Amino acid sequence: MKATAIANANIALVKYWGKRDEKLFLPQNNSISVTTDCLSVKTTVEFSSKYKKDILILDGKEFKSGSKEYDEYFESFLNKLRISAKTKLRIHPVKSPSALFNRVKVVSKGGFPKAAGLASSSAGFAAFAVAANEALSLGLKEKGLSILARQGSGSACRSVFGGFAEWKKGKRKNGQDSFAIQIAPENYWPDFRIIICLTSKKEKKIKSRAGMAQTVKTSPFYPGWLKTIEDDLKKVRKGIKEKNFSLVGKTAEENCLKMHSLMLSTKPAIIYWNSRTIELMRKVIDWRENGLECYFTIDAGPQVKILCLKKDLETLLKRVKKIAGLEFRNLKKSEMKNIIIAKPGPGPKIVKTHLFS
Ligand code: PMV
Repeated sequence: MKATAIANANIALVKYWGKRDEKLFLPQNNSISVTTDCLSVKTTVEFSSKYKKDILILDGKEFKSGSKEYDEYFESFLNKLRISAKTKLRIHPVKSPSALFNRVKVVSKGGFPKAAGLASSSAGFAAFAVAANEALSLGLKEKGLSILARQGSGSACRSVFGGFAEWKKGKRKNGQDSFAIQIAPENYWPDFRIIICLTSKKEKKIKSRAGMAQTVKTSPFYPGWLKTIEDDLKKVRKGIKEKNFSLVGKTAEENCLKMHSLMLSTKPAIIYWNSRTIELMRKVIDWRENGLECYFTIDAGPQVKILCLKKDLETLLKRVKKIAGLEFRNLKKSEMKNIIIAKPGPGPKIVKTHLFS
């Protein structure tokens, strides 16, 4: 009844920003991402009658009923998990259905800042879904896991796969056709690199869930965004298939800027960037114009992710370190690195070492 999974965060190349169904987490458009080989979250899940209530411990801190994390993210996902599992039970009887009605203890640990625009929720809910599937012997395969993870955090449905994945928005009202599929496995494009630059480690004030809902409601540019998405998706799919870095990078950067224009035009405006974010964006454009091919993408936070190829990694790192080094002069040794190098990584895995006994 206890299981542990590790999953990695993904970074979107064509973004998801807005739902057509808030309860089921159904998106307005398809999105494409690359799952990283780092930014991992490990989660242990145990359903047992020994627990009197559902327990959530994230990075050593217990979250209780009444907190946003517990009520809006944890309990609401658990309810969906229990409903999905019950529906599933009707089709395939599993060994211990009663376990579903037991309380659960969930302990989760990530080696990077939460809610800072590093897609921690994509790794967190993918690990949670995979561990729960194992703990309850639900027998969900990738599609079912993707549907389940989606209902914790939309982007998590893509972290069920390694390499490059596309989340199909689906058309059905019940969301059963809204899940991710793999476009290319983790070892398909070994030269693809992402330099993740942490410009701030603070938790963001506006979470993506609330932010995107406000954007759909108030941004006058939202219909324009939806009109251009198909074209971005086509280019990024083609770029990945042909390993055409220029096409993937250029489209990803343009798509990111379009998403941020939606945020800026939301009422009230959502501005995730800080001055370092903008400095890095300008530098990337400048370096590129001077012959070093690189592109940026930024999610719901101030962190800049620089896309490049392996051959240019060292040159870029030297330049990036100069900027980040200035800003992080006072970093303690124990603090996390502010530059992380990622490449396409694997999907979730079940491991034997649990986070609690
Ligand atoms: O899955 P959420 O609710 O964390 O939203 C993710 C939103 C973006 O990271 C900005 C874009 C994306 O597609 O991952």
